[in-house]
Amino acid sequence: MDRNLALELVRVTEAAALACGRWVGKGDKNAADLAATEAMRRTLDSIDICGTVVIGEGEMDEAPMLYIGEKVGNAGCKGPEIDIAVDPLEGTNICAKGKTGAITTIALAPRGGFLHAPDMYMEKIAVGPAAHGLIDLTLTPEENLRRVAEAKSCYVQDLTVVILDRPRHEKIIQDVRKAGARIHLISDGDVAPAIAATVEGSGVDMMMGIGGAPEGVLAAAALKCMGGDMRGRLVFLNKEEKARARTMGIDDFDKIYTAEEMASGDVVFAATGVTNGELLTGVRYMSGGAETHSVVMRSKSRTVRFINARHQFDFKPVY
Ligand code: FBP
Repeated sequence: MDRNLALELVRVTEAAALACGRWVGKGDKNAADLAATEAMRRTLDSIDICGTVVIGEGEMDEAPMLYIGEKVGNAGCKGPEIDIAVDPLEGTNICAKGKTGAITTIALAPRGGFLHAPDMYMEKIAVGPAAHGLIDLTLTPEENLRRVAEAKSCYVQDLTVVILDRPRHEKIIQDVRKAGARIHLISDGDVAPAIAATVEGSGVDMMMGIGGAPEGVLAAAALKCMGGDMRGRLVFLNKEEKARARTMGIDDFDKIYTAEEMASGDVVFAATGVTNGELLTGVRYMSGGAETHSVVMRSKSRTVRFINARHQFDFKPVY
């Protein structure tokens, strides 16, 4: 994977954030998502890659662009063959309501590098480098918390776990509270907190619970680049979901995936803040333009760059 692609990727997430940033708080999550998707699609086509979307906005018949199987890139298939995972706006509701934690995200891997996760749920647990190799989805939350606290040389009571605020998480929330850890309940957007768990001083130590499987793969790509760890197990709600998973090459329905199994090879990940969050600052508008805050990383070098960029709309308009 050409290392310069990493910086090209930031342009992609920046463009998406600038486009959907104008929809923050306007109550229209679909319009925000479409703005991000269009901007991401357009910018991807300016990059010399021969890309195939493997995690995207849905199937061809349900998504006008960045659908699974869509070819993107400027190379006319002369550039490297790359698989692409996108979530042009992760946290559509957050953006529509102007709440915290919406980001734009993309990840690249060599062909075949990503788990082709269907659009269904995944049980996840994510931690930073200190607890690498210590988490286990077959263990209780208490035991996982004890292991993380020991690895971080801190008290369980001082750990902060991010969990999506959903009725399905009642038990896990109870268990984490019983163990004594602090909880940050979020309304949406579990990719950014999974990544934040790898950043010392972010205020997040773990992300636990059931969220989207495609989001799980994107988080796994980032965690791999940052030396963090993640486990994911697909959650099937019905027979149709199992049949769908089978068509995507998944036969073992109980398998617990490691971050490496979800995102293998030389992976690159980028994200830009849309609204403020624990990981990234949202788009900030100013005279004549806006500032964005992004993160971009490569698994090969483990270099993690946080990038502040100033955009001048008179010179480069936002569509
Ligand atoms: P969208 O950006 O597609 O709205 O998804 C946001 C999200 O909160 C994800 O971060 C999370 O993994 C998933 O939805 C949770 O799904 P649900 O809202 O069904 O609990």
